[in-house]
Parts: sequence; C-alpha cells; structure tokens
Amino acid sequence: MTVKHKRSLGVCYYPEHWPQKMWAKDAARMKELGLTWVRIGEFSWSQVEPRPNQFEFDWLDEAIQTLGMAGLKVVLGTPTATPPRWMLDRHPDMLALDQQGRPRKFGSRRHYCFSHTDFRGEAARITRIFAERYGENPYICAWQTDNEYGCHDTVISYSQVAREAFIDWLAQRYQSINALNSSWGNDFWSMNYDDFTQIDLPNLTVTEANPAHQLAFRRFSSDQVLLFNRKQVDIIRKYSKAPITHNYMGRITQFDHHKIGDDLDFASWDSYPIGFLEDRVPNREDMHPRFTHQGDPDFQAFHHDLYRGVGKGRWWVMEQQPGPVNWAPYNSAPLPGMVKLWSWEAFAHGAETVSYFRWRQVPVAQEQLHSGLRRPDDKASLVWSEIESLGKELLEAPNIAPCKSRVALMFDYESEWTWDIQPHGKGLSYFQLVFEYYVALRKLGLSIDIIRPDTIDLNQYQLIFVPGVMHMNDAIKSSLIECDATVVIGPRSGSRDKDFKIPEPLPPSLEQLDTVVEALESLRPNDKIALQNNGNIVNYREFLSGNGDVFLSTKQGQTVAMRKGSLIYVGSWLDQSGLKYLFQNLCMEQEISTIELPDALRIRDTRTERFWINYDNIDHTVDGMTIKAISVLRQELPMSGT
Ligand code: GAL
Repeated sequence: MTVKHKRSLGVCYYPEHWPQKMWAKDAARMKELGLTWVRIGEFSWSQVEPRPNQFEFDWLDEAIQTLGMAGLKVVLGTPTATPPRWMLDRHPDMLALDQQGRPRKFGSRRHYCFSHTDFRGEAARITRIFAERYGENPYICAWQTDNEYGCHDTVISYSQVAREAFIDWLAQRYQSINALNSSWGNDFWSMNYDDFTQIDLPNLTVTEANPAHQLAFRRFSSDQVLLFNRKQVDIIRKYSKAPITHNYMGRITQFDHHKIGDDLDFASWDSYPIGFLEDRVPNREDMHPRFTHQGDPDFQAFHHDLYRGVGKGRWWVMEQQPGPVNWAPYNSAPLPGMVKLWSWEAFAHGAETVSYFRWRQVPVAQEQLHSGLRRPDDKASLVWSEIESLGKELLEAPNIAPCKSRVALMFDYESEWTWDIQPHGKGLSYFQLVFEYYVALRKLGLSIDIIRPDTIDLNQYQLIFVPGVMHMNDAIKSSLIECDATVVIGPRSGSRDKDFKIPEPLPPSLEQLDTVVEALESLRPNDKIALQNNGNIVNYREFLSGNGDVFLSTKQGQTVAMRKGSLIYVGSWLDQSGLKYLFQNLCMEQEISTIELPDALRIRDTRTERFWINYDNIDHTVDGMTIKAISVLRQELPMSGT
C-alpha cells in the first residue's frame, strides 16, 4: 500500500540574530503565510555556551516556546558545524588541514577535523545537552544533525590525528602489513611498508600516490563522517522520539550518503538552483545563458531522486533558494514564479516539505547579500506573494501518492571517488556520466528512481542503468544478474576490484556477459567517433570482444555494446544523441512509452498526477496541451493499482 502524505512548507530561522521582541510577530507571520515547519539552532553554539560549560539557554527556550505556541513545528539543529572560538583554545589541533598541510582556520564554519577525538567528544557533549533539554519538548518535531557535512570541501583532512586514525582503520581492515602490501600492489615503485605506523596520508607525494592508497583514504574519510553523525543520532534517540535528518548538499559526494541515510529517519537537502548553475552542473556551459534566472532543468530533479533513495522514500528540501544568493560566481535573481516552480517540482518528486532559506535577510556578516522571505527592514521581499499563493494551492492539492518508476539509475558514491582518483581523461567524472544518463532519460519524459548499489529488490524495474560503477562487488553483480529487468551496464563498470586492481576475468568482469574490454582510451574534447545509427562516442572509449550479440557499433563496424539475454554492456561514453537512440530502443522493447521533450520541459509522474515542469521563459505546447512559461501544470492520471 503506498503511503500518502501531506505536502508542507517551512523556513530556516535564526532568532539569535534578531531582538526577542520580534519573535512573536515573526512566528505569527510564518503561520499566516501557511508555513508548518521552522528550523532553528544549527549555528547557535556560541550563543548557548558562550564560555566552556557556561550555558545560556533561556533565549532558545523562549524562541522554541514562541514558535511552538504560534502553531509551528520546530526542527532543531545540533550546533556542531560552528564550534565557538574558545574551542580552539581547548583543542588547538582540532582544525582540518588542507592538501598542502595548511590549517583551515576559525572565522567561518565547518572548521573541524572529523578525526579529532576530543572535538568529537565536545560534539557529543553539546548534542547530549541539546537532546536532554529538548528531547521531550512537544514543539521539537524533528532534529537535524550538524549542517551540510562536506560543504566547503570539509570531509577530507590531512591532519596528524587523521593520519593516526587512518593507520588504525587500515590495521583493522587489512590485519597484516603484508596483506596490505599485496592488496595495494606495493612491490610497484618499492612502496612496501614494514609496519602500519609508516603509512602516511596520500598528499604531498612527488607524483600521484598509489590509487589503492588514495581509495582507502577516501573510504576512511567517509567512515569518519558516518561515525561522527552516528554518535549524534544515538544520543538524540536516547532522549527523543522525533525523527532525525541531515541536510545534504548539491553535488557533494565525498562521503557515502547512503550509509549515513541508513542511520537517519529521513533525508533532506539544500537546493540552490541558480547558485549551482556554474560550478556544480557538469558540462552544460551552453545552457548557462538561457537558464541564468532558472537554474538547470535537470540538476534539482537529479538530487530529488537521489535523496529520495538516500531517505528510503522520505525526504525534504530543508533549504530552498528564495531569491538571489551571495556565494555563487554570479548571483542572478530567479524569474517571477521560479521559486514556486522549484517548490512544486520538489513535491512532484515526492518531497514532504519544502523549507526556505531564510526567513529574513540579515544585514551583517557573510550572507548579507543572501535574500530571504523578508527584507532586512522586515518588509516582505519580492518572493513573499509567491509563497503565499503556493501555500493556498497546497491546501487545495491532493496528497502525494508517490509511485516507483519503471526505470532505475544506479548512483554509487565509491565510484565517484574511484573516477576522481583515476579519471583517465582530463575532467572526466562519474557524476557527469551518471548525470548525462539521467538527462537523456528525462528528455524522453521518463520518471526515474536513483538507486543505491546495494538495492536488493530490483524486480519492480524494467530497465536498470549502471554506468561507471568501477567496483561491483559480488552482491551487486548477483542482484543485477538475478533480477527480471533489462540491465544496461555502462563504461568502466566492473573494471576494478575492491583494492583498485584490474580484476580477472578482465572487465567488465561479468562472466554472464561473455564480453571483455580488450583496450581502452580517453578522447580529447573534440574527438568524436560516429556510431552506426545515431550519435557519437565522446570522452572515453573501450574496444570489446566476446561471444555476446553485438548491440551497438561504430560507423566503421567496431563493437560498442554487447548483449547476452537481459544483460547489455555499453563500453564507451555516448553523447546525448547516442544515449537517446539506445534508450528509445530499450523503452520500445519494454513497452515503456517515451515522449521527446524540449530542453526546458520535464515530466514527473506520481501515482495520480503527471507534473509538467516548464523551466523556459516561453510557453511549450505538447500534444495540444500548453504549459505556460515558468510554470508547473498538474495533470490528473487515471488511478492504477495501489
Ligand atoms: C547553505 C547553508 C546555509 C546558508 C546557505 C546560503 O549551504 O546550509 O547555512 O549558508 O547555504 O545559501
């Protein structure tokens, strides 16, 4: 039975930035605007503990009371992303070090190394104090741990404490130094170690460090985030029954979100569509001028689908851009209607709540040019009326009836690290490869689930795409082989073992496919190899041999993809036309209907509704139906099944 839930709105609020006399009015206005949720507290450490062990909680008690009494539900953040200045006097070596070995200093946020045991103790201490105090407070209806792990490049630290923890991690994983030497292939370049204590972090080496060493360090760094988060979750659960989330970010991939998601009750993420346009959307520079006031039409949706998976179906947008931000290379204003569009788009993908960042623009410090729902003088900002009308629309809208899609795309955080360590061609990234598959599928009007590598039940899908998963363990392989779907395995999948060795049988290392990658090459930016039907190979190419059926080939007759039953291996990076041809054919075979959409128009289906999302500043007409510029059109679907 599919769970239905109400859509709701929220806002991020910082009572500590404003005189107490404003709070009650703020709370009343939030309610009037139709907001249900308010997130507070995630940067408040120096306000609640101005000096070590001296607490000033009165203001936070009062703020929670005021918001709660106004009928709002509070999400309380643990304040560990902003340790106060006195913390450094207690723990001078708590800062992370960058790749050059330089400290990442106090004066902004996220200035801590995940491996610093004493700081971890401090984070646990303040979490316990928050949880004890507010665990049973009726107004605290959800918790957020920390804030945006990994934002500002903060997962990896090359500090001495990180090195010590890494050595322990390696010793536990490999048990003997000989096992490590042999797994890493340390006979190469005389890199053998006699003892775990000799192992350094893989920075500042003369040329690149051993990829196996680098991958181990990336896995270790991700695990440190996991442990840090788990500690907070365990503490909060002792005192509170309210659900716990973390607010992830757009294209931050240095830790395994799926693993952290397992410890949490729901996922949330921070969506800044225009802020992301330049630096995070891969390889779409040509689209920037057109979407400078809208954001990329696929980037938000990609993360909605990704985090729906991370949250095992339950997720929010914790921070939604409400107007221009302050931190991107160019901080354009959204077109009128855009904030409403982004919000509806999130709901269409199954969000329970969309919460805006922030309530009021703050006249001081780093984010003074970041807009809010209200201006610094407390007048309504330009977006106010848009949220007001969205609130009304939501009251009339039916509940969400999420449905599982028939098409799945795998996303694997470890593969992002392996590609990063060994891209093979300048600038090639796993994220880009997966994103390009996603875009090509969405251009055909498909609704997609982004699945984790260890998804066990794959039988609900008819088509599963697995590009670039460099290490496919036995469990992944067997679930792909055994499921009923047609599985398309993409370039570089299965090309390494768990320690970054080329496996035997050779990649893709799937006997059932009967295909071998004989050789491979990366391509320069304008180097294209035409495919026999439509499209080209770009970026990266493999030469295949084997006894499977040839499924795609180049104009010159070289094999590009091979098929054995329901398994297909596509051993090269295809451009959008190549992917379109491939996907259209597969959908036809599976009787999944497709529709060719223009760049700026997208579809997302729920069980009861089809959402047409138009990012363009012109109207689009499809099948006689007009979707107005910058708008979302909801079309009722005939009910099917449960
Ligand atoms: C997010 C962050 C917020 C705020 C916001 C500004 O990354 O979580 O605290 O800084 O960006 O856009």
